[in-house]
Amino acid sequence: MLATVVLKLFKLKNSLNTMISYKSSFYLKSKIDRLKAEGKKIGFVPTMGSLHQGHISLIKAAKEECDFVVCSIFVNPTQFNNPNDLVKYPRTLEADSNLLKAAQCDFLFSPSVKTIYPNGTGGFVAPKVGEIVNVLEGEHRPGHFEGVMQVVSLLLDHVNPSHLYMGLKDFQQFAICSKMVAIQKRPILMRGMPIVREENGLAMSSRNARLSAGGVGKASLIFESLLLVREGKEKHSLSQLRAMAVQNIQKDKAFKIEYLEIVDQESLMPSSNMSNLIVLCAVWLEGIRLIDNMIL
Ligand code: PAF
Repeated sequence: MLATVVLKLFKLKNSLNTMISYKSSFYLKSKIDRLKAEGKKIGFVPTMGSLHQGHISLIKAAKEECDFVVCSIFVNPTQFNNPNDLVKYPRTLEADSNLLKAAQCDFLFSPSVKTIYPNGTGGFVAPKVGEIVNVLEGEHRPGHFEGVMQVVSLLLDHVNPSHLYMGLKDFQQFAICSKMVAIQKRPILMRGMPIVREENGLAMSSRNARLSAGGVGKASLIFESLLLVREGKEKHSLSQLRAMAVQNIQKDKAFKIEYLEIVDQESLMPSSNMSNLIVLCAVWLEGIRLIDNMIL
């Protein structure tokens, strides 16, 4: 009897959950400051929208650990090294908002470009996070991480969270943002959350929506190749492992590999030490750039 009443109350509370949406951070930030003064934990999930279950897993993780969760949706113009990608980036605010409500997100912050960059996008001096910014994604997408640091830094000023949740599919982004937060001495706990995959192993990404059904099927080869590296780790040298993964992806001529590297997890530089390694790759399929990684 008591259990039924508790369950009904729990369902009622959930059905009453209403997410509050903000376009400007004026009221959001004062609310957060008040909640933090009461000792509440505030989890923040920055996104560019076009949400999928990978993003929702971040909201759920934040919900579990924190008292309130803020999600931002902002398609940041300064991190697109290819202007075409910025134009093509899907903007699906209504659908995203429904997903967030269903996931019990408390606050949505969806600012305009003018709100984030009132004086234009120039003038940002990126914190010196080291060589990590120039390798892998940094080498192939010049200026991308400077744009990410710029917007994450501004979003953190607006939201002022206690916890920041980011997906480890963008492993390098998480590493760079963690360094930036430390350099800026922000009292924020960083949380890198595991990659969420489709049933066939394809890492969830907003870009997957642009693949054909056949492309989604083929893309399982990426995960399969990363697994080859992990499973072969005890038996092969690093160069053999890399060659095996490259060869496996290239079995299908539809793929073009931009990079596939096995590096140290901290420095993202090649290492002769077989511990603390990660394999990361960027491949092109059907004109879509897909990234993935696996900790070994
Ligand atoms: O990972 C993303 O979606 C974006 O790079 C981020 C962190 C929201 C910054 O625009």
